[in-house]
Parts: sequence; C-alpha cells; structure tokens
Amino acid sequence: MVEKPPLSTKILRRTTRHPPPSITVSPVTPFRSAPVKKLGGTIRVPGDKSISHRALMFGALAVGRSTVSGLLEGEDVLRTAAAVRAWGARVERGADGTYSIDGVGIGGLSEPAEVLDLGNSGTGVRLLMGLAATHAITTFFTGDASLRRRPMSRVTVPLAQMGARFTGREGGRLPLAVTGTANPVPIEYTLPVASAQVKSAVLLAGLNTRYDTSVIEPEATRDHTENLLRAFGAKVVVTDLGQKGRAITVTGQPELRPQTVVVPGDPSSAAFAAVAACIVPGAAVRIENVGINRLRTGLFETLREMGADIAYENRREAGGEPVADLVVRHKGLRGIEVPSERAPSMIDEYPILCVAAAFAKGKTVMRGIGELRVKESDRLAAMARGLSACGVMVEEMPDGMIVHGGAPEGGARIETEMDHRIAMAHLVLGLACKQAVEVDDVGFIDTSFPGFIALMNGLGADIAPVKA
Ligand code: S3P
Repeated sequence: MVEKPPLSTKILRRTTRHPPPSITVSPVTPFRSAPVKKLGGTIRVPGDKSISHRALMFGALAVGRSTVSGLLEGEDVLRTAAAVRAWGARVERGADGTYSIDGVGIGGLSEPAEVLDLGNSGTGVRLLMGLAATHAITTFFTGDASLRRRPMSRVTVPLAQMGARFTGREGGRLPLAVTGTANPVPIEYTLPVASAQVKSAVLLAGLNTRYDTSVIEPEATRDHTENLLRAFGAKVVVTDLGQKGRAITVTGQPELRPQTVVVPGDPSSAAFAAVAACIVPGAAVRIENVGINRLRTGLFETLREMGADIAYENRREAGGEPVADLVVRHKGLRGIEVPSERAPSMIDEYPILCVAAAFAKGKTVMRGIGELRVKESDRLAAMARGLSACGVMVEEMPDGMIVHGGAPEGGARIETEMDHRIAMAHLVLGLACKQAVEVDDVGFIDTSFPGFIALMNGLGADIAPVKA
C-alpha cells in the first residue's frame, strides 16, 4: 500500500499535544501574517472536503473498485479513509495521488477492532455514524478535544428512531459507541437545524434500510450526498414541498456501482484567497478549478453584493459538479445586511466574511448563524474576540454579529482554538492590517487546507513563524 506518510506524523503530533510528563514535545509554533503591498497570481486549492469524505464512503459501499482523483489529502479526510479501512474496505493511494477503493457492498461492513478516531472532523464522524447505525456491528467513535465537545445528539436522535443504540457522554458527546440494528425502521425525518451532516447521516443509514427513508429540509443545504449517491447508482428523489422546503428520499439496499470520481477544488478553501484579493489594494488572483455548486457559493454572492469584483471564467462540469476559474480583483467593499436564508450556502465562510467586513465601508450585519457556535470552535465568539483584538468594532449577538468596517490595526496574537478556519481567517486579516497579526497555532489548517501557507506566500503573502 502506498500511504501518504504525513497522516501518522500529524496524528502523533496531535495526540502528544497533552502528553504524560515523561514525553518531551516541541511547543506549537505561532505564525504571523505581515501586511503586504502586492498580491497576485494563479493558484489551485485542494479538493472539496465534503465531496472527498463522501467519495471515500460511497466507494467503500460499492461493489468493486472506485477511483477518486483530486481527493483532499487533509487530515479530516484521511481519518475517514482510515475509518472505512477499519470497516473492511481497501483504500490505496497511487503514486499520482489518485485513490482506489475496493468496496465491501452495502451491508458488508465488518466490526472494527479499534476505536475509530475522527480527529477534528464533524462531517467524518456524523456521516460514518449514519452508516454504522444500520449495520449490525458495534463501532466506537472518538475525536480530538474540539470534536469531543461538539453535539452528536442531532444525529443520534433520528438514528435511534431507526433502531440503532448509542452509548455516549452527556449530550450524546464523543466518545460514543454505536450498535447498529439488523432490522432498521425507515423514517421520515424533518431536520430541526439546517445541516447537511444530519441530512446525510439519515440518508446514509437509509441505504441499508428496506424501503424508503426521507429527510425533509426546510432550508436547502449542500446536496453532495444526493448527487454522488445518484452517480453511484442509488435512487434518490427530491420533491419540492413549496413553503415546507423539500423532501429527499433514498430507496434502501441499492447495489452501488463503482465510480470514477473527480473532486473539484473546495470553494470553502478558495474563499480565503478570494477575500485576500478583495482586501489587498491592487490584488488580482485567479483560482482555478473551484466547485461552484449554488448551495456552496453564498460567500461569492455576498462579496459581489458588497461590491467585490469576482468573475467565474471557463465554466464547465467536472465529476457531476459545476466548476469554474475564479478571478478576483481588488475593489473597495461596502457593508451590507447578509440575508439569513443564505446562511446554509456559506456556513463555513462566515469567519472569512467577517474579515472582508472588517475592511468594508460601513457595517455588515450577519444574523441567523447560531450554528457557528457549535463548529470546530464557537466561531462567533472566536471572530468577535479576534477582530476586536485587532481594533475592529464588533457587536456579538446570540445568533449573529455586526462588524463595523474601517482600517483594522492588527498587532494582536489570536487564539485559534483548534479551528482551521479561525487560523486561516486571521492570517488573511494580517495581509491588509496596519500591523502583523499572529495566530497561536497553524497545525489545524492541515485538517482542510494542507499547503495553505505556502500557497498564500506564493501569491505574495508574508506568513512566517514568529521568532522567539
Ligand atoms: C458539511 C456540512 C456543514 C459544514 C461542514 C461540512 C458537510 O456542517 O459546516 O464543514 O460536508 O456535510 P453542518 O451540516 O453541520 O452545517
């Protein structure tokens, strides 16, 4: 097997973060991002995280060999690869970075001997819990300190209705054991929160359930599960319910056929370079091969409303998803009220939108985003603290935030709280502040965007370790 070595190194680093006293660990190095006068060039960002997780999972459930190119080789996704291997699928990396997956078929997962550690990844653990719920095996799940704090009852509640049993900590938190049911009950479940993870967990449990399993989503969330499951040969029907949203129904026990999946660049990663180009005077950046599924592009729409110059060039389809090259040129931004119904299509982008807002003229109002409090960190609190420390006026609300734009000072050290997007957002902030911005830990960036610092420095950023 040709496995990428960095995973084991990174896992080692994570698990030795709070070591017993006898082990010596090198301290985490803080980085700083200094103001720059120029930013420009052409880049490609790594593969889409959501699609990468799903490609590995569906490949593991197909009968035969699937191949995946452009897979995100970030720690979150590599943890999912390790998890499906522990369930019996074969996952191998070819020399060119293409992964091949020999699936075990729906119903074919075998009980893992080890606890599955999903690290920092909410998507990984919640979707895998859906699969575990309707296989008659027991799987133990855990994650890092950030993931162990996050609520799992949003998936355990519907999955228990289907017949799975869970033993977890208070609030259904990890570590948690799932005992899957041999006789799953098909359900119709209305999402209490707009969450593609919850929708997907139920639909994936429905794969090994006889008859139809439906999820009703009042607000549309990313539809990669639906698109990719269809490509693998499952029957997935979407019904428009008018005011009530839409129902997604999967017919159980299909035979999934192996596929060749091409993963487009992640719009959530492209977002950081795009905002960098919006805030550095004179900047022009081309980001090639970015997924522009309309349920993911709320940030670009919002930035355009704020006055940004963002063009989609060379529109095409890759792997069943719309793709384009994004060309972003600096132009002054103005604050707006972001429509709250747009939140699901840009839920991961609020930290970097806050950075754009800090440089806009006037105030940017963001509401209906209480979900940000249960991401890898409490992102509303983390951004409010970070921006305030850099001299930006911020009003934090229980489910939103108002950012008063201007000319941020910078000059602060930010705690990133095990959250990749908080780290990247503040490194982008530093590019256009008066003084450098420091972040305490860049290690978690590798969960979603390996190579972020090198890529940004290639465009002209000045991101470097803080000298002792
Ligand atoms: C994801 C869904 C979102 C998002 C996460 C990826 C997915 O979470 O924040 O990064 O791949 O389904 P929620 O569904 O909980 O909003």
